[in-house]
Amino acid sequence: MGHSAAVWDYRAATEITKDWNGIDQIVLRTPRGASARVSLHGAQVTSWRNEQGEELLFTSSKAIFKAPKAIRGGIPVCFPQFGNCGSLEQHGFARNRMWTIDDNPPPLHANDSSGKSFIDLLLKSSEEDIKCWPHSFEFRLRVALSTDGDLSLISRVRNINGKPFSFSFAHHTYLLVSDISEIRIEGLETLDYLDNLFQKERFTEQGDAITFESEVDRVYLGSPNIIAVLDHERKRTFVIRKEGLPDVAVWNPWEKKSKAMVDFGDEEYKQMLCVDGAVIEKPVSLKPGEEWTGRLQLSVVPSSFCSDRLGLDRSGL
Ligand code: BG6
Repeated sequence: MGHSAAVWDYRAATEITKDWNGIDQIVLRTPRGASARVSLHGAQVTSWRNEQGEELLFTSSKAIFKAPKAIRGGIPVCFPQFGNCGSLEQHGFARNRMWTIDDNPPPLHANDSSGKSFIDLLLKSSEEDIKCWPHSFEFRLRVALSTDGDLSLISRVRNINGKPFSFSFAHHTYLLVSDISEIRIEGLETLDYLDNLFQKERFTEQGDAITFESEVDRVYLGSPNIIAVLDHERKRTFVIRKEGLPDVAVWNPWEKKSKAMVDFGDEEYKQMLCVDGAVIEKPVSLKPGEEWTGRLQLSVVPSSFCSDRLGLDRSGL
C-alpha cells in the first residue's frame, strides 16, 4: 500500500467503528495489511487477520454479539475466574461487561508501544460486579498489533480494595484451524493436567505431542512460556508466547457438546481449538495497591520454520 513502517502513523491506523449492534469496536492495522478488531463488549478480540487478509481466529457463525452473552469466538477475557465455581458466573463477568477506552493508561514498557498499533481498554468494578465479587479492581488490557502482524494482549489487574483478593484468569483463545484431526500442540508433553471431563482429576500427559480425536477439556499446569499449535494441512503454526500465565487450558467440545451449545454450529468443532494462556491452579493474590501483569503474544509462522527455532527459545516474551 506504499507505506513503510518508518512513516506509518500508528495512531491513524487505529480506527473506531460500530458493529451491527451499535457497539464500538476498534480496528488496528499494520503497514502491510494485517489487522485486528476488538469489541468494547468484553474487550474481546473478535478478529485477527494476516497480511493476506486471512482470518486466524475462530468465531462461530451462530455467535450472539449481544450482552449479556459472551461472544462465542475470538479471545474472551475470563476474569475474575476461569471455569465455574461458587456463585460467580462461568469464566467470570469481564467478558460480559462493556469496557471503556483508556485514554491515559499508566505507562508500559517501550517495547509494548513502539512499532505497534494498539488500544488500551479499561474495566472498573461496578456496583453490580461488587454484588457478586466484593472487590474493587481496575483491569487494563492493551491489545497491540506489531509491524509483523503479531497480536499481543497485556493485562494488568490492580487491587484498589482495602483488602487482599485473588482471582484466576484466561485469554480464552479460539484458534481457527483447517481440521482438528490435523492439529498438534507442542510444548505441553510430559506436563500434569487437570481434566475437566474427570472432575478435575490430575493426570500426567504421556504422548509426544497432543493430538485430537475426541472431546478435550484440560488445564495443563506450569507450562513453558512458548508453545506451538501446528496445523499440518495449512502448513502453518501458531506460536503462543506468554509471561505471567503459567497454565494452558485446551478445549475442543467435539460433536456431542457442539450440538448442545446454542451459539455454536454442529460441525464447527472441526475448525476450532481453544488454547488459552491462563492462571488457574494457583490464583493470583493481590494485596491492596498491588498490580499483576500477564502477557500473551500470538504469531503465525510457516510450519517448516518452527520446530528448530522454538527449541532455542523457551524463555517466552
Ligand atoms: C472451556 C471450559 O475453557 O470453556 C469448558 O473448560 C467450557 O468446560 C468452555 O465448556 C466454554 O465455556 P463457555 O462459558 O464460553 O460456554
